[in-house]
Amino acid sequence: MRTLIKNAKCIFPRETGIFNLIIENNKIAFIDPSPTMSVDVTINAEGLLLIPGVIDDHVHMREPGLTHKEDLKSGSIACAKGGVTSFFDMPNTNPSTISNDNLLRKLELASQKSWVNYGFFIGATRQNLDQLRFAERTPGIKIYIGSSTGDLLVDEQNPLERIFAETSLTICAHCEDETTIISNSRALDGGRSYSSHSQIRDENAAFIAARRAVNLALKHNHRLHIAHVSTAKEIELIHPNKNLVTAEVCPHHLYFNIEDYDRLGARIQMNPAVKTRKDNEALWNALIEDDINVIASDHAPHTLDEKNKPYPKSPSGIPSVENILPLMLDAVNKGRISLERVVKTMCETPAKIWNIADKGKIAEGYDADLVLVDMNKKMIVNDEEQMTKCKWSPWNGEGLTGVPTHTWVMGNLVYCEGKFDSAHRGREIQFNHSK
Ligand code: DOR
Ligand code: ZN
Repeated sequence: MRTLIKNAKCIFPRETGIFNLIIENNKIAFIDPSPTMSVDVTINAEGLLLIPGVIDDHVHMREPGLTHKEDLKSGSIACAKGGVTSFFDMPNTNPSTISNDNLLRKLELASQKSWVNYGFFIGATRQNLDQLRFAERTPGIKIYIGSSTGDLLVDEQNPLERIFAETSLTICAHCEDETTIISNSRALDGGRSYSSHSQIRDENAAFIAARRAVNLALKHNHRLHIAHVSTAKEIELIHPNKNLVTAEVCPHHLYFNIEDYDRLGARIQMNPAVKTRKDNEALWNALIEDDINVIASDHAPHTLDEKNKPYPKSPSGIPSVENILPLMLDAVNKGRISLERVVKTMCETPAKIWNIADKGKIAEGYDADLVLVDMNKKMIVNDEEQMTKCKWSPWNGEGLTGVPTHTWVMGNLVYCEGKFDSAHRGREIQFNHSK
């Protein structure tokens, strides 16, 4: 089947302008095709902007084991609505993804349930080096150098050294220093309010663990990706080591800070914890200057009942996968960041740094993972309208301008102006690890 997307605005492949594109057999088959070419379906994209689908390299879809919070179906539908055509899921499910058997089980589940394309990290433990060494169908190895939701933690030097020395896949690190967290928590008697979360998981916790990860990467010449950078200080570590170290920021660390606890309480309790307004500013600048390379959601749904427990029983994490693109398009409309930079950090660079073949660009022969956005359309984020199973968002009530209207996953129009097509499934993302 041939689909013509007609009269779309674009920033790629040309600087600006209007263009036509034909999708055929899951691929972008023709850009600016001959007007005589026959097509089966025509989508009038006048006034809309066509971008590559977002590749979100950090989500928690909670399946298996925690499916009262989210599952691969509900989470991937949220992706489709938000213009996210590919996700990488984290290993802190139940059971944790710490073996190749569990990895393959997740891939099998996703092939049946996920509406968008998927990849699954394998998690590091103190004892699973053999599993990490021969894992292939994964973007890389996730290490929690500091505990978070779940029980994955590797914080002793010896196992860390061995993982960096004896494996070859890119390491994605959650950087919060466990010793600092424990001592801050003791000093605060465990913490009494949601805002104490930011005193316990403070700037030093993030910096110390990130410094440790960067030093290990340098010592063993191992590619490192620092997940969810939350402080200005971490950027000092990343900037001089850009050949080996890439970094990711999440919209919640750009938008929220400790001043927001009064208003939002547990709705902004996450790991790493939010920091200060100054950190927000530094993260925006680092994103614009390319010290931070990727925007990811860290979509981490918990039910509101769970979140409403008193601190520290309230779990850390927020749902966000369906809103990250509108949030960044709104930032474009407000002049905070360029559209080019948003497309680079959400679509093109994730494909590049994780060695994904044929994604992240609008070019002939690339996968037809595409999103039309209406840069003038307004939306108000609303808990009840969220597609995530947990049905809330820390941005509830926020007005945003810039909304995805159509999402194609491998050539299938899975979301179109509020309507979903349930007939299609995403594909396993292929990683070219030999690159
Ligand atoms: O806030 C967070 N929630 N940070 C993490 O590292 C894990 C995540 C979760 O899985 O809930
Ligand atoms: Zn996470």
